[in-house]
Amino acid sequence: MNAPPQTVRFRLNGREVAVCAAPLARLSQVLREELGLTGTKVGCDAGDCGACTVSIDGRQVCACMTPLGQVAGRAVMTVEGLANDGALSPLQTAFHRHGAAQCGICTPGMLMAAQDLLDRNPDPSEPEVLDALGGVLCRCTGYRKIVEAVLDVGGRGQIAENPPAGQAVGARLAKVDGIPKLTGAEIFGADAAPEGALWLRVVRSPHARARFALGDLAPLHAKYPGLTAVLTHKDVPGSNLFGIYPTGKDQPVLAPGEVRYRGEAVLALVGEGATITAIRDEELPIAWEPLDAITGTEAALAEGAARVQAAKPGNVLVRGRVVRGDAEAAFAQAAFTAEGSWQTPFVEHAYIEPEAGWARREGDRLTVAVTTQTPYMDRDEIAHVLGIEKERVRLIPTACGGGFGGKLDASVQLLVGLAAWTLDRPVRCTFTRPESMAATTKRHPAKMQARAACDKDGKLLAYAFDGDFDTGAYASWGPTVADRVPIHAAGPYAVPNVHNVSVAAHTNGPPAGAFRGFGVPQCALAHEALCDDLAGQSGLDPLEFRLRNAIRKGESTATGQVIEASAGLAECLEALKPHWGPARDAAEAYNAHGGALRRGVGIGCMWYGCGNTSMSNPSTLRVGLSSKGRITLYSGAADIGQGANTVMVQICADALGVEAGRFEVVMGDTDLTADAGKSSASRQTFVSGRAAQLAGEDLRSQILRRANAGGGAVLDIAEGAVILREAGQEWILDLGNLNAGPNGDVLLGEGTFDPPSTPLDDNGQGAPYATYGFAAQIAEVEVDAELGRVVVRRIVAAHDVGRAINPVQVEGQIHGGIAQGLGFALMEEYVPGVSENLHDYLIPTIGDVPPIEVILIEDPEPLGPFGAKGIGEPALIPTAPAILGAIQHATGVRPSVLPVTPHRMREAILAAGREGIHG
Ligand code: FES
Ligand code: FES
Repeated sequence: MNAPPQTVRFRLNGREVAVCAAPLARLSQVLREELGLTGTKVGCDAGDCGACTVSIDGRQVCACMTPLGQVAGRAVMTVEGLANDGALSPLQTAFHRHGAAQCGICTPGMLMAAQDLLDRNPDPSEPEVLDALGGVLCRCTGYRKIVEAVLDVGGRGQIAENPPAGQAVGARLAKVDGIPKLTGAEIFGADAAPEGALWLRVVRSPHARARFALGDLAPLHAKYPGLTAVLTHKDVPGSNLFGIYPTGKDQPVLAPGEVRYRGEAVLALVGEGATITAIRDEELPIAWEPLDAITGTEAALAEGAARVQAAKPGNVLVRGRVVRGDAEAAFAQAAFTAEGSWQTPFVEHAYIEPEAGWARREGDRLTVAVTTQTPYMDRDEIAHVLGIEKERVRLIPTACGGGFGGKLDASVQLLVGLAAWTLDRPVRCTFTRPESMAATTKRHPAKMQARAACDKDGKLLAYAFDGDFDTGAYASWGPTVADRVPIHAAGPYAVPNVHNVSVAAHTNGPPAGAFRGFGVPQCALAHEALCDDLAGQSGLDPLEFRLRNAIRKGESTATGQVIEASAGLAECLEALKPHWGPARDAAEAYNAHGGALRRGVGIGCMWYGCGNTSMSNPSTLRVGLSSKGRITLYSGAADIGQGANTVMVQICADALGVEAGRFEVVMGDTDLTADAGKSSASRQTFVSGRAAQLAGEDLRSQILRRANAGGGAVLDIAEGAVILREAGQEWILDLGNLNAGPNGDVLLGEGTFDPPSTPLDDNGQGAPYATYGFAAQIAEVEVDAELGRVVVRRIVAAHDVGRAINPVQVEGQIHGGIAQGLGFALMEEYVPGVSENLHDYLIPTIGDVPPIEVILIEDPEPLGPFGAKGIGEPALIPTAPAILGAIQHATGVRPSVLPVTPHRMREAILAAGREGIHG
């Protein structure tokens, strides 16, 4: 029973406050909703993520697990209390300098935990930092820059201070939008809503497959006067089906009588927050008829299997195929062959910010503010569901607390949009952590078989891959995965004969969608294992084998595309050589002493096509100059923590020829920006970055033309005028004489870039991407052969990024990708109904991520902005193969089922008869 509200008095950030609320109310909720301090974030409401960490009497605690009554008479400090008179604290400054905040959703909790440590121990050691911050999860950074920052409070950090005009690209510029992430001022999806907004709660299926009938709702309304509406599929005025591909929209906004996965949306309860929270699902008049569910691709593809969707015969969503040369003939003539099979599970994105947003109808228009990776796709999808023109929807992205592909699919935005539109009331919604995990997309589970062959000198001759990918109940990004996998499956190597096929099969699992790599991390497990096997057979060192086969400029990919430029894998491998040999020798020397702890060093390589596969992929950016001399970059590229805002500014600034510090950014608002596509497929730096460069060049040429100045003129933008100077000459462009557009800009530069690609033919031949990222990583591990526990001790990562526009951001992406790759390899497995929270679903903590050394290779891509290409996905892909290779080096056993949890590792050792490994 809830105790009645009481007045509770305490000190909050140095001042006395009194709050009237239930004494058992969560402190996090009171801080956010009663006191308006939304800097304290909520990622789980269960004590698992630490995002809500505050200080009570100087010690860090989870505010979500602290009842309000417990803080009576005590001193509470939140992130809002760290800055002093608007000046960042030394700790906040260190975070800023080191790029320790990416999306920023964990940052308040990290800061509070770190401040607790520093108050007691101003000069901590690294183990002390790891210990103190161990309760706060971060999904973006891989923690390393956070550790660096805490160890460098008061130091100089790493950033470049205001690089001069023309020198922004390549500078270690701090995030242009970084400060609000450090002060708690950043507004994420759950942090704001229009006054008087109703709350929405989604009722979801408890069954993986079932039919249901909805009874009379009148008694529910009578019992709960605060319940404004119960929305069903019948309330959807446009299409009740949504999905990524125009021809593949198959997922109901609200299920019309049949559900196909546990967590599917059935009803939307809209009303007062307390009311819709109080209504228990069991009170709803839903009569369920559970049906046998299809679990896994084997069941889905079996002869005579029930159809998950009636319109999908054989449960096949789509098949992918890349065939080049004659693989079977090559296998028959090869000196050495290797083969294997691999299996991976559903993997959850586990961004720390659950889905959240609000919507408001304004006459015949709708405004939706939501955490998202793709404002324009959201806008179009909402309009499609409501049956209205897309111009009548305004999508405003909030700050996004991590996405990694999981916020590419519409979720909360469709439901709040539907409710606000039909009820003509503002409506907000925040998914709970279990709801977020159950309802949204996952990485595709994969069952893969592959073979590879080489000649006696270790030159690859043939590769054959066959992968079944569990795409779950609905299409989502399944076609993308099925397409990408056979293109990438043979790895970043020159292989003349390839036969790669894939299938995306429907099951009654959660929809599998986009997750950092679109299936490539799964198939990389196979090509890297086979490389190690063939290296051993041909008597070559594993790194040397890869170097011998690394695809180089002028060579053809599996799709027959000739790589014309920017093929830096060989350079990555050369850069790793000084680390590889000594690390392998040290591990072997360590193992020579015997004992249960075995050390090993492995290597993984990758490639990744930047942008959409064989599809138009345009991006448009604009940059405006106002009569006051204000420069605004209008970027539709969602910054989800990866630093897109900062990178776009750096590129545009150098193209325009002014300091990056002069720029303001409008990000993602569909009424104010142009369509820059989605933040996925490692495309924003490459595609939108090029558009930003073209926009800057366009504005510059307009200024030069109007001033009649030469092309090399230096711009000095002042209030009311641009002064141009070159070779002792000076021109002045009076901005006051120019007419202002709707945003107050008197000049507007625009750039559009659509990277060239071609369709693939029936054998998957063509040029699916304009450029590719390449990388190689070394992992050093220690395996406890008795317990099966694997600890990653160090990673060295060499990445060809074309050009590092901002090395701090690039390193941060690599660190974060490695952490996710480590989780993929060793700990992460989503099981519907079992691991729908962050204590049963484990992601790497600060103590799990080892020191990481990043080596940046810059083999410029001529199409990219200043030579740059993407890094988001490439960062993750080689990590798991490198870890598995290291396990094999340590133990002689290479597990093939992920994640390699201790019990699986131990089983693999026993199955291989290696239990006597440590003598
Ligand atoms: S919100 Fe409190 S620990 Fe996650
Ligand atoms: S920066 Fe830590 S979760 Fe995004």
